[in-house]
Amino acid sequence: MLSLRILGLLGLVVITGCSVATRPDSSPKSSGTDCRTNQCVALTFDDGPGPYTNQLLDYLSAYNAKATFYLVGSRVVQNTAVVSRMAREGHEIGNHSWNHADLTTLSEQDIRAQIIRTNESIRLATRNEVYPASFRPPYGAYNKRVITGTGYNPVMWDVDTLDWYYRNPERIVKLALTAKAGDIILLHDIHPTTVQSVPEILRQLTAKGFVFVTVGELRR
Ligand code: NI
Repeated sequence: MLSLRILGLLGLVVITGCSVATRPDSSPKSSGTDCRTNQCVALTFDDGPGPYTNQLLDYLSAYNAKATFYLVGSRVVQNTAVVSRMAREGHEIGNHSWNHADLTTLSEQDIRAQIIRTNESIRLATRNEVYPASFRPPYGAYNKRVITGTGYNPVMWDVDTLDWYYRNPERIVKLALTAKAGDIILLHDIHPTTVQSVPEILRQLTAKGFVFVTVGELRR
């Protein structure tokens, strides 16, 4: 069933002439932060959007913090309003596959379908504003075939908060505070405990002089 749907999608993509998985984006509006002169960190939130994502966007907005969201396409189509809000508020939106599959187990054709279907869902949710410029593989799992099939260099992370495992805001905050300038911090906004930890992460890292930028800005 799924493979039939993917084949259908590929057919559609060919018909509409959108055959390139990663055309140059569409990067989010820059916050104008220069990471050569600022202590930048990139907060990244995987696996959403979910029921706590709107609350998270409120927290980020209170600090004018920009983040990067690695979205799962099958969740995008169920939560288009919050995806549109992410784009409007200057966050970066990246691709985290269609259904969080371990892409190393798929054929190159199926990998490509996972990426295109997700990018198209994000493009539709943001009314053509965003076509993801970055990708993070589910489980951090990739090989040569994943790189070829996706057309992206995977974005990994420097600080793993282990928030999916320790559902404890204090513990998540403590690990996030180990970040150094230039680091990418891994979080998952599908867990309420993660979102609960964010105000304190923002408060304490701000107090230490950090500025919150997108992955795109960090890599510029
Ligand atoms: Ni994930």
